[in-house]
Amino acid sequence: MKLLVFDSVDEMSRYAAEKTVQTIETNQRPVLGLPTGDTPLKLYQYLIDDHIHNHTDYSDVVTFNLDEYIGLDSKDYNSYHAYMQRHLFRHLNIPLENTFIPKGNGIPLSKAIEDYESALEKHPIDLQILGIGANGHIGFNEPGTSFESTTHVIELDPITKENNKKHFPSRAKVPNKAITMGIHSILQAKEIMLLASGTNKAEAVQSMVEAPPTTECPASALKLHNKVTVLLDKEAAKLLKEEHPC
Ligand code: F6R
Repeated sequence: MKLLVFDSVDEMSRYAAEKTVQTIETNQRPVLGLPTGDTPLKLYQYLIDDHIHNHTDYSDVVTFNLDEYIGLDSKDYNSYHAYMQRHLFRHLNIPLENTFIPKGNGIPLSKAIEDYESALEKHPIDLQILGIGANGHIGFNEPGTSFESTTHVIELDPITKENNKKHFPSRAKVPNKAITMGIHSILQAKEIMLLASGTNKAEAVQSMVEAPPTTECPASALKLHNKVTVLLDKEAAKLLKEEHPC
């Protein structure tokens, strides 16, 4: 696990965008794994700026989003389908049929899982980008999730609901369940890049980096992968024992 600590979220996001564009440029049919949430917003803005100014071509890019809430219509403002349209896809020349997001509504969940798994099998991920939850989750793989897990439905942890309530009218409106790529599937990516910023991620980052792999900290599974880069701002890195300047 390689660690890079940046002075600001801006620098961290710029680095992540450069790495993403490099992956697109060096693969004939690049496959990206993408997160939602607050952390990747600046990265997505950099990718859009790069597309406008440098014309990076997304017509052959395939993307997989990690997760989706169960029970929200894909047009619902808070669905991750809508988030991706708003913050990235509609600004790029990416064909909609190349963008895979697990479906949390409208079809039986067993079918949603099957469809997503078979798409993953057809398109192995070149670069999986991740955020991390304050409880150490990756995707919506909450603490206790098996490292052998593939796509599955999960009950959201109270900490996740608390952190995500800011996007909903009230905590009670945060969906209880989600569909997520599993930890085993995440580990199949050829390369992984995890981004974390802010003090509220510091404990999760410390467990991921310094504790042995344990299902209590799902992100610690990344230690089992041989090509992981962790990008941090200073606040997220503040509990780490060693210094890791970039
Ligand atoms: C979302 C996802 C989650 C987030 C994590 C951090 O698709 O996979 O694991 O990356 O909850 O969320 P933010 O970035 O909002 O702090």
